[in-house]
Amino acid sequence: MTDAAIAVLGGTGPQGKGLGYRFAKAGRRVIIGSRDAAKASAAAGELDETLGGDGLVTGMANAEAAAQAGLVVVAVPWDGHNELVESLRGELSGKIVVSCVNPLGFDKAGPYGLDMGNSSAAEQLQSIVPAARVVAAFHHVSAANLIGPAEKLDHEDILVAGDDKEAAAQVRALAATVTGSPGVDAGPLRLARQLEPLTAVLISINKRYKTRSGVSISGLPQD
Ligand SMILES: NC(=O)c1ccc[n+]([C@@H]2O[C@H](COP(=O)([O-])OP(=O)(O)OC[C@H]3O[C@@H](n4cnc5c(N)ncnc54)[C@H](OP(=O)(O)O)[C@@H]3O)[C@@H](O)[C@H]2O)c1
Repeated sequence: MTDAAIAVLGGTGPQGKGLGYRFAKAGRRVIIGSRDAAKASAAAGELDETLGGDGLVTGMANAEAAAQAGLVVVAVPWDGHNELVESLRGELSGKIVVSCVNPLGFDKAGPYGLDMGNSSAAEQLQSIVPAARVVAAFHHVSAANLIGPAEKLDHEDILVAGDDKEAAAQVRALAATVTGSPGVDAGPLRLARQLEPLTAVLISINKRYKTRSGVSISGLPQD
């Protein structure tokens, strides 16, 4: 599995590009996905150049990227998310599909988590593609830090939630390409309802302290 390519749908945006950068920097093959294959190729070319031209990053239309990958990261905005995943039911079925999607709103008082009812973006993805092995992760790492110069974002933890234990374990291992340590097992997929809107709190903190805050969990066993 670790040799399989990772597709990043919406990988032309800052978050998908940043995650793709970290995965490829750690030696993983990455396919940048886009609604527009030419835009995907251009973004992949930029990333490949940043990484020294080792050819680990390619770009394709979202459907082809998802079809060729072993693991798929969904990094598109909440608006349009359901339509995109509906259109990729076949390609996503049976695969580990990672959602970092944060359904947020912004008004005069700042950012807030949208009312998702008793659901979350990750759970909606799971209900649209029941055969996907959906895992929620990477909600709280900022795109700017991902693409930034730090060797690893070792001051942050990646919280990982999923019902498929084996899939969640693979995503926790993948998180080490970003932070240097495995992700933290946060529990079942329904906890994406808490993980996704927590990002509104981080954005609010960022504004007040002029920083890029992240999440770090204390009290975990050292091993
Ligand atoms: N930015 C961050 O720091 C950050 C941090 C954590 C999590 N996230 C989450 O990661 C996701 C991506 O964030 P982002 O800032 O990279 O977003 P973005 O730049 O707004 O969008 C990413 C890409 O999604 C595609 N896209 C846009 N609208 C779409 C639609 N209606 N249907 C299908 N594809 C569409 C576009 O790619 P093409 O035009 O090439 O198809 C775009 O480049 C979001 O859900 C966000 O909540 C972001």
